[in-house]
Amino acid sequence: MKTEEAIKKIIFALDVKGVNEIDRWAELLSGKVGMFKVGKELFTSCGPEAVKAVQRHGGQVFLDLKYHDIPNTVAQAMVAAAGLGVQLTNLHALGGAEMMETAANAVRKEFSEAVRPKLLAVTILTSSTVETLRQVGIEHSVPDMVVRLAKLAKESGMDGVVASPLEISLIREACGPDFLIVTPGVRPSFAAVDDQKRIMSPSDAVQAGADCLVIGRPIAKAGDPADAARLIAEEIIAGAV
Ligand code: C5P
Repeated sequence: MKTEEAIKKIIFALDVKGVNEIDRWAELLSGKVGMFKVGKELFTSCGPEAVKAVQRHGGQVFLDLKYHDIPNTVAQAMVAAAGLGVQLTNLHALGGAEMMETAANAVRKEFSEAVRPKLLAVTILTSSTVETLRQVGIEHSVPDMVVRLAKLAKESGMDGVVASPLEISLIREACGPDFLIVTPGVRPSFAAVDDQKRIMSPSDAVQAGADCLVIGRPIAKAGDPADAARLIAEEIIAGAV
């Protein structure tokens, strides 16, 4: 795998609070990572300006807002996200087939394949356990639910899923080679584990079948963040052979 290909697989989690900080990180890491993830906290405080700030530096955006609502509302929200020119956006697969299909169809109707964002589904949040599922009336194991929801997402027109590293192989097996798998909980060999529990190295995650890795603190907290991104790209290349 070429270096540029490995860099494209790195999604930097932009877990910051203001536009000034976005400018700083986007400038520092443009060309060193493939994409910047804008999540609920940053988007709630800065709005579309957060996306535009990354784009001003030439960066691509994963808008991680995990929509879950009635089909029409999610569809319109995803069309609005696509209108911001982001490359990835997502919803909760637990919203069901009709919600996912309506959203996927609406985005495909408004935007050509060449410009539309890829649509991802969150299956079961990695913070959920079998007990969390039982509390809401779901009597299945987490892996069973993850595979079931990943297949439903695929059948409903989603391009892929966000999943924990430990679920990559199950999903790859169930959904085939073209289904996108984006995974957080990745820790390169040089970095601290932080609060992540079920972690995997970049090389193992890529070997298991991940397409993109969401990585925050191992880059943000490094003495030299650009160099940390370079080392991660090297670890990805090692996993691809
Ligand atoms: O700093 P770190 O690499 O742990 O950041 C990972 C990013 O991915 C954070 O933005 C976190 O919210 C997100 N994430 C995660 N685990 C999930 C889903 C999202 O760590 N299951």
